[in-house]
Amino acid sequence: MPQQMNKLDHYQLLIRGGTVIDGTKAQRFLADIGITDGRIAAIGQLQAHTADETLDASGLMVAPGFIDAHTHDDLSLLSQGDMSCKVSQGVTTVVVGNCGISAAPLRNGQELPMPLSLLDIPCGNRFTTFAAYMQALRETPSAVNVAAMVGHTALRATTMDDTQRAASAGEIAAMQHLLDEALQAGAIGMSTGTFYPPAAHASTEEIIEVGRPLSKHQALYATHMRDEADQVMVSLDESFCIGRALGVPVVISHHKVMNRSNFGRSVQTLPFIREAMKHQCVALDCYPYTAGSTMIRTDRGVLDGRVLIASSVPHPECAGRDLDQIAAEWHMTKAEAAQRLQPGSAIYFVMDEDDVQRILAFDETMIGSDGIAAGANPHPRLWGTFPRVLGHYSRDLGLFPLETAVWKMTGLSARNFRLPGRGTLQVGMHADLTLFDAESVNDSATYDEPTLVSQGVHSVIVNGVVTWHAGAHSGARSGQLIARAP
Ligand code: ZN
Ligand code: CU
Repeated sequence: MPQQMNKLDHYQLLIRGGTVIDGTKAQRFLADIGITDGRIAAIGQLQAHTADETLDASGLMVAPGFIDAHTHDDLSLLSQGDMSCKVSQGVTTVVVGNCGISAAPLRNGQELPMPLSLLDIPCGNRFTTFAAYMQALRETPSAVNVAAMVGHTALRATTMDDTQRAASAGEIAAMQHLLDEALQAGAIGMSTGTFYPPAAHASTEEIIEVGRPLSKHQALYATHMRDEADQVMVSLDESFCIGRALGVPVVISHHKVMNRSNFGRSVQTLPFIREAMKHQCVALDCYPYTAGSTMIRTDRGVLDGRVLIASSVPHPECAGRDLDQIAAEWHMTKAEAAQRLQPGSAIYFVMDEDDVQRILAFDETMIGSDGIAAGANPHPRLWGTFPRVLGHYSRDLGLFPLETAVWKMTGLSARNFRLPGRGTLQVGMHADLTLFDAESVNDSATYDEPTLVSQGVHSVIVNGVVTWHAGAHSGARSGQLIARAP
């Protein structure tokens, strides 16, 4: 609803004549928005008011800035602070520390196992405490806001001399201590990635024990599950069980059902998730593509479909090429070629479009890109996720109304990750806004040209500062660290 806080008649920024989609799923309405001191000061008919700067939003949708619920931007925030890949999509907040991977706490001088090394973590000068990482985010603001989780794989790599086994009682206690420190420093939760080798040996019990400090701080538990293929139901059950044991919310990351033999199984997983939601707090996110991307793997199933090499340390010249072609050239099987290309990352076409659509359309599904800013050939989700949901899936396919699409990337995510003052357009909220053209908004990035800037995103405002406008970055770095309230 249009609302006005007080009779201020001068704003720092005035957005005139737009159609407001407020991030609550409510119907759109015509209104101006006045912004002062990084906050929304008024929403309503503000034609009579003056401003230092005015943006004409006639013909445009005015939405809360998008929240990327699942990212690996942990270090990009510091090394590529313009965050053009995200800001150009309308993203104003990112959640980092997913899939068990985080930039802290880590030890210096230690060789990091995949997938931790996907983050491109330097060997020296690491963040040995989570507080040091948070301090760096505060001192070096990027163009977007950030909320950070601590990765269980990072905890294991820091604590254990060998991650290919279960943790001892002493190691569990040490990890608990590190997690507690991270939560006190403002981390919003812990993520696991038991799908990956350095965490695969962690049992359900180990995760529950390590995760104990989450209960005390009421922080959340996010998971890249042990298995998103044949054992997806068992994995969901394990995730819910961990959440119940700790009494904390669970986030099922990038929910999918993988490999041809599991196509269609979202008709089982989604009702199972809905049932769990009746008894405990469960959230989930999804990216709008049928291909995933991760470290180069050689296991059965993932190599069945098309595989595109995104990066390879020993063979950088293979980036952007099909594994099929590389294997044929090298006169070997795809598995052998994949082995030779390790370490690196690849794009795997392992999902069914019907499942992707069913999961996206599930009312509680948030949007998260899961993009990895490594190499010149990333998965196109890094640059295209949000406009693709708004354009391709909402407008063109009619999967859900635009108001719902916006909610999935704003209000819902702010609620689930507990990001105070973000995610909806109301007086007093932080002024994170995205202005887009509902007719033309869409992704441009493809598997062949993965870094093309999306269309139809007109202006992006982060904490009251215009950061993206008419196809260009303003250079602003007004992002804030969103620390968990103690
Ligand atoms: Zn993951
Ligand atoms: Cu991820």
